[in-house]
Amino acid sequence: MKFTNYVLALIALGTLLSCKAETPTPKGEPTKEKVLLEEFKGSYSADALESTGVVEFEIVAKRSTVRLFEGREMEVWAYNEQVPGPVLRVKLGETIKIRFRNELPQPTTIHFHGVRVPNAMDGVPGVTQPPIQPGDSFVYEFVPKDAGTFWFHPHVRGSEQVERGLFGVLIVEDVPALAYSQDVVWVLDDWRLTKDGTAVDPRFNTGGDLMHDGRWGQMITVNGKLNHELIVKPGERIRLRLVNTSNARVYAPNFDGLNAKVIAVDGMYAEKPLSPAGFVLAPGNRLDLDIQFSAKQEGQLFPIFDQFSRRRTYQLASIRVDSGSVETPNFPSPAHAKIPGWKTALSTEVHTEFVLNAQRGGKLGIQWQINGKPYSDYKPTSLTAGNWHRLRFTNSSGRLHPMHIHGQFFKVLSRNGEPADEPYFRDTVLLRPREVVDVGLVPLDPGEWMMHCHILEHAEAGMMTVLSVLPATNDAVK
Ligand code: C2O
Ligand code: CU
Repeated sequence: MKFTNYVLALIALGTLLSCKAETPTPKGEPTKEKVLLEEFKGSYSADALESTGVVEFEIVAKRSTVRLFEGREMEVWAYNEQVPGPVLRVKLGETIKIRFRNELPQPTTIHFHGVRVPNAMDGVPGVTQPPIQPGDSFVYEFVPKDAGTFWFHPHVRGSEQVERGLFGVLIVEDVPALAYSQDVVWVLDDWRLTKDGTAVDPRFNTGGDLMHDGRWGQMITVNGKLNHELIVKPGERIRLRLVNTSNARVYAPNFDGLNAKVIAVDGMYAEKPLSPAGFVLAPGNRLDLDIQFSAKQEGQLFPIFDQFSRRRTYQLASIRVDSGSVETPNFPSPAHAKIPGWKTALSTEVHTEFVLNAQRGGKLGIQWQINGKPYSDYKPTSLTAGNWHRLRFTNSSGRLHPMHIHGQFFKVLSRNGEPADEPYFRDTVLLRPREVVDVGLVPLDPGEWMMHCHILEHAEAGMMTVLSVLPATNDAVK
């Protein structure tokens, strides 16, 4: 090495070292992570309330024929012979107990999306439970820790089983109940059918689906119907819960012309009521709206369009304002949750970066990978319960990836390095092509928690891994 190069190398090394050494924490002062953890305190509790009683349900998964679209008979796989499956409602603090029987021709499980369950109730085959074989039963039992809109679906061959019709909604109601005049669920789904239109097209995980953004069907339904219509009266104040159960389709519902506010995202209340403009529902996402109808709107019809795809606008459903006014329920919006600002979060170090990309290979011909590994080869990422973590998703592909973490909520900190303004938690965040998204996360429940793309074809092709949440250390929050 020439002397000048040697000096340059030394200078470079010195810069590196001084960078590292530049941010020591002065003695006695809390670390940046501790400050962020303090801000998190009180956002949501680590523990469930003490159970106030048990609500029992029975669910059977089996092949069924149901009426969908405009009343057409369709062969599906269904929970309790319904598509969408049942809407289960419990009150916050109640134990939910589900006796589940598998009468499908395949093994299955039920995963409760977004619900902070004990790890053993998470429904992940080979991680939290063995798959439930045809003819076998399993009891899911837990006390949900949060009031809100959740859903459930199989976690075995999801791209096939969810597409065939296996999904349902779980609503955890506030105590005391909120005085909305209607509490409405809209399950958004899309369908790709056989030529004769009598069954779900059984060609799952096609090369095209895998290479692109998964399986997008041509028919979009709300609660299994084309042109679903909701009827309200002038003066009503309703809660509308949107759930995207599609394998892959993203929706951007337009509520222009309505007095609508987003009050919850992915089940959890936001810091304040927010304008619905700009919100998208990627697979897995939920959005709760608070909508008020005035006397002036009597007799009007409001079509709700999906505007995600630039190529085509779809009508999802419509709201018809009938006659005969009712008194407007008057109560404060529930969207006043404590959400940490985490304004200093971008000056902390990234705990783990997850690079998302595809490669040829694997049993489906294309493998979707996280940090160069498909799920069959995953290496768990360790996090510590009660500690603050900054995670980074780097989408190195040109496709969409709604990344979902089981059993925890996180907050988006930045997109492509720009601070994000999201005064709410999420359990699923959509990454656009080549996008880099940083999130802040304080895991509270130890266990093995899945992290995967919720485009179910990508997940099936390997885009899943596990976050191993280790028990809290002494300085963690409780
Ligand atoms: Cu709805 Cu593993 O997720
Ligand atoms: Cu993906």
